[in-house]
Amino acid sequence: MGQTTRTAENQAGTARSRHAWHPSSWKELPALQQPDWPDKLALERATGRLASLPALVKSAEVHQLRTELARVADGNAFLLQAGDCSESFDEFSARAVRDKLKVILQMAVALTYAAGLPVVKVGRIAGQFAKPRTSETENVNGTTLPSFRGHMVNCDLPDQASRVPDPERLTTAYNQSSATLALIGAFSKGGFADLSHVHSWNLEFVASSKEGKRYNRIANEIDQALRFISACGVELNAEEELHRVNFYTSHEALILPYEEALTRVDPFSGSWYDSSAHMLWVGERTRQPEGAHVEFLSGITNPIGVKIGPATSPDQLIALCSRLDPERTPGHLTLITRIGHSKVRELLPPLLEAVREEGFPVVWACDPMHANTITSTSGRKTRKFDDILAEIRGFFKAHQEVGTRPGGVHIELTGDNVTECIGGLDDLAEDQLHLRYTTTCDPRLNARQSIELAFQVSELLRS
Ligand code: PEP
Ligand code: CO
Repeated sequence: MGQTTRTAENQAGTARSRHAWHPSSWKELPALQQPDWPDKLALERATGRLASLPALVKSAEVHQLRTELARVADGNAFLLQAGDCSESFDEFSARAVRDKLKVILQMAVALTYAAGLPVVKVGRIAGQFAKPRTSETENVNGTTLPSFRGHMVNCDLPDQASRVPDPERLTTAYNQSSATLALIGAFSKGGFADLSHVHSWNLEFVASSKEGKRYNRIANEIDQALRFISACGVELNAEEELHRVNFYTSHEALILPYEEALTRVDPFSGSWYDSSAHMLWVGERTRQPEGAHVEFLSGITNPIGVKIGPATSPDQLIALCSRLDPERTPGHLTLITRIGHSKVRELLPPLLEAVREEGFPVVWACDPMHANTITSTSGRKTRKFDDILAEIRGFFKAHQEVGTRPGGVHIELTGDNVTECIGGLDDLAEDQLHLRYTTTCDPRLNARQSIELAFQVSELLRS
């Protein structure tokens, strides 16, 4: 074990021994990106209510996800984590949830079919309602307003009153997460995700496109394979795996009073888990090893993720791993790198080497979105499909060079036919962005661009 790690572990040890972990121990440390709630009593009332409500996800599912992620860490599965940048209270509908699931299931089929690897499916969904912001204020049509912080905190409408943090929104976030989880359960276990329905996942506006047709060819081959297996005498109805999928939820653990209120004791193991989602991650802006967010995540048994940006040094990364995965549990920690397409080849290999040298059994995932955001000439935030793909290619190359495993991708997407990212097979142009630009935060890939990306990633996995 190197000198670096000993130092990092000592620091982490010091931080831990200062106080025993408890769902509220984060309060003893600096918490960045917390809204300035004007009515503290209302916040207490809201979190008090949440603490008495049922857990959103079951601890058994959380453990199951960790088992699946341990397979990813071993190179025997691939992680697809995808969904909205920021879920909306206003755009919530069963159709929108279903269409997002369709795209993610389609991407998983493309990846599984080409690479022969099981795909672990984790949505940025059912709780992804809070956004870290670089600036406290933003300029909307010439007016300076407090920044929009996600629907769990305030409203995106461009007026002062809408931007005031409102604790009632924590309850709405819980309720919408609960409804979304019910829909996900119905879709993933109730026949919709049955492998014999692969054709029906092709959304109308995707089916006619080149990537939609490529998907349909795979769907035909899957149909044929199922018929063949059935003809060989295998009772397909008895094979549960063909009729349901495991679909997990995740979000950024940003608003700590909300996460604390939903943290429960797992009745089987006696350990704490955050019942707001199966997996939680800490963002690039709040991942200080001595900060409140890392303290909170260090005590829960859920699989956790950490965003790793271009300024992260190998020493800082090892300090984070020591703090968040001291027991070195396979599948517990996912490092989500978001470095930028032009820097990934240079900056990623030293990080991979450091973590390998210290023996942390992490999952490495690539978020090719957050370090490739640009502003279009019309002033809209956007991302180029080619930059997104270039970061993923750089991620695979870096792993190949170092001999580590590219474990997954982390994508912002929607099942809707939006015009938010430039490029892809349709060659969406900058002057088309205004047509259907509906995101409340970052630009997302539309369903066609998402399927195209999955095919490109599946080729990288195959080679
Ligand atoms: C996000 O995932 O939406 C996000 C804000 O990412 P990051 O913390 O990597 O900037
Ligand atoms: Co985002």
